[in-house]
Amino acid sequence: MNLPIIPLDFGGRHVLIFGGTTGINLGIAQAFHSRGANVVVASRKPENVAAAVAPMQGTNPAHGVVADIRDDAAVERAVADAVGKFGPIHVLIQGAAGNFLAPAKDLSSNGFKVVVDIDLNGTFHVMRRAYPHLVRPGASVINISAPQSFVPMRWQVHVCAAKAGVDQVTRVLALEWGPEGIRVNSISPGPIAGTEGVKRLMPGGEDGVALAAKHVPLGRMGEKADIANLALFLASPYAGYMSGAVIPCDGGGAMESVKLSIEAAGAALVAARPAAG
Ligand code: COA
Repeated sequence: MNLPIIPLDFGGRHVLIFGGTTGINLGIAQAFHSRGANVVVASRKPENVAAAVAPMQGTNPAHGVVADIRDDAAVERAVADAVGKFGPIHVLIQGAAGNFLAPAKDLSSNGFKVVVDIDLNGTFHVMRRAYPHLVRPGASVINISAPQSFVPMRWQVHVCAAKAGVDQVTRVLALEWGPEGIRVNSISPGPIAGTEGVKRLMPGGEDGVALAAKHVPLGRMGEKADIANLALFLASPYAGYMSGAVIPCDGGGAMESVKLSIEAAGAALVAARPAAG
């Protein structure tokens, strides 16, 4: 399946995407760039930043910044770099995230903390540091959430807690920033083919992916373009009355598809561990 990208024009718009060098977020970055935007991607690994930016040069520019969103000062520098390059921000996307499977009883405090630091505290750093530079009225802010924010899942206590927090950040900022004409929404992707998330959370390979797809009511894994198209719509004037929304894009099946396959993978992982003692 090769989905078309919505033909919206983002010419001259500054789109800043944290985590935008791989997976779903890279798909979003490429979609905005293909629609004329001046795109900045920010992420932790210099090699990923370079690889993401190189093919995106063309009539409209793309720029990369290295920053770990756990580091508030690094986020501040990344935002300043982006604004120095392309001016005030029209579209801000925070998609950087961390995940692994672990039963709560075996998860160290640091293991819990590292995911909260990336997903939740990192989101706050990005929101706070970008806020002064958002175009107002008119900016669109999009956080990438996950079904774990509202569906409890075994082996995912760290992610469930962090993503629930991210959704509340979205809703509160929609309240606080709405009067300035800034819209804030979340996208909650289901299982998206070819992503790091699916690799980590459905490590059963073909079996895990087939299990997920089988339980998606629409009968297929999502594609990066499914999420990119929703992001383009949310960033466009056609979504001008939408704010504070957490929008699933999951083929109708986050509850059954993602939960079942993640829990099956977690159970297999635990069963494969050598007995303690
Ligand atoms: N099971 C249990 N604990 C784990 C773990 C696992 N699979 N992976 C990491 N941890 C724990 C570590 O043991 C450590 O805790 P400790 O100090 O008590 O031992 C803590 O998490 C931090 O691990 P570390 O490897 O130092 O963190 P990091 O900053 O290098 O990596 C992660 C961050 C762990 C989130 C890593 O998976 C990552 O970089 N992910 C980014 C990509 C990603 O997850 N994409 C998918 C998004 S859906």
